[in-house]
Amino acid sequence: MARYIHLTDLHYWSLVCNPLRMLNKRALGTLNLLIRRRHQIKTERAAGLITLFQEMDIDAFLIGGDLTTTATEEEFRQAADFLGRLTMLAPVYLVAGNHDVYTFESKRKERLEKYCQYWLPDEDTAAIDRLPGDVPLLRIPTVRPNLLSSRGSFQQDAATSLQTCLSEQQSQPMIVLAHYPFLPQTAAYHLGLNRGLGNGTTLRRILGGSEQPLLYLAGHVHVFSHTRDPEHPNLEQVTTRALFYAKKDRPGGFTEIQAAGAQFSVYPWVYRDGWQREALSSP
Ligand SMILES: [Fe+2]
Ligand SMILES: [Fe+2]
Repeated sequence: MARYIHLTDLHYWSLVCNPLRMLNKRALGTLNLLIRRRHQIKTERAAGLITLFQEMDIDAFLIGGDLTTTATEEEFRQAADFLGRLTMLAPVYLVAGNHDVYTFESKRKERLEKYCQYWLPDEDTAAIDRLPGDVPLLRIPTVRPNLLSSRGSFQQDAATSLQTCLSEQQSQPMIVLAHYPFLPQTAAYHLGLNRGLGNGTTLRRILGGSEQPLLYLAGHVHVFSHTRDPEHPNLEQVTTRALFYAKKDRPGGFTEIQAAGAQFSVYPWVYRDGWQREALSSP
């Protein structure tokens, strides 16, 4: 049996006080942060979490992006420090979230790559790795910078590389890691036009058409959900809680996946006065 941890939406944050650096979308983000996120994102839980992971015998960490809140140097420094500590325990596999390319400036300066290159795929296309325990991991890029919205993007070159990856794997059960869910809504969330994945229907059609059993792990919505695609029974989608969140209706958490042969078992974890493992989830 192999044990993987899916964690996502860490949203490390820092306040930008220089007004010249706030002449962009970060002004909105910083204001939002001042008002709400300061009290809702408890990154101080990181130390206790590392201790918990040390006791769990973990084979790999799968990280769904949104490491930062407004993609500043300071936020990336904190996030990279945390990923470094995870790497001492097990290999770390990362995909970008929309907050990691929050402004066009952060994208142009390649801040994500500067701090996190080691954990990202070599190219910004769909890519396959083999996890410890011999389970294939497919990583799919789904983000781009936006002026105002938090909409994702599944682009043509990603679609082409994804089809190549799937054709090479020949119906072996696989884990898929991306930031955006491909389902626009489930019982647990509803993504409007501004927050959803552009071209998500194409992604869903390609994954569904492969007929391979796929466990798709996403973040972005900050709630746990586990859904079988009603149109493509080979697709199971899991969304995981935002790691350090402390909202009443959206507590923080992560997801544990146990892989035994061709079987994946999904256990959500939640933070309620401490980290707690919930019951085995089924879609
Ligand atoms: Fe997020
Ligand atoms: Fe996001």
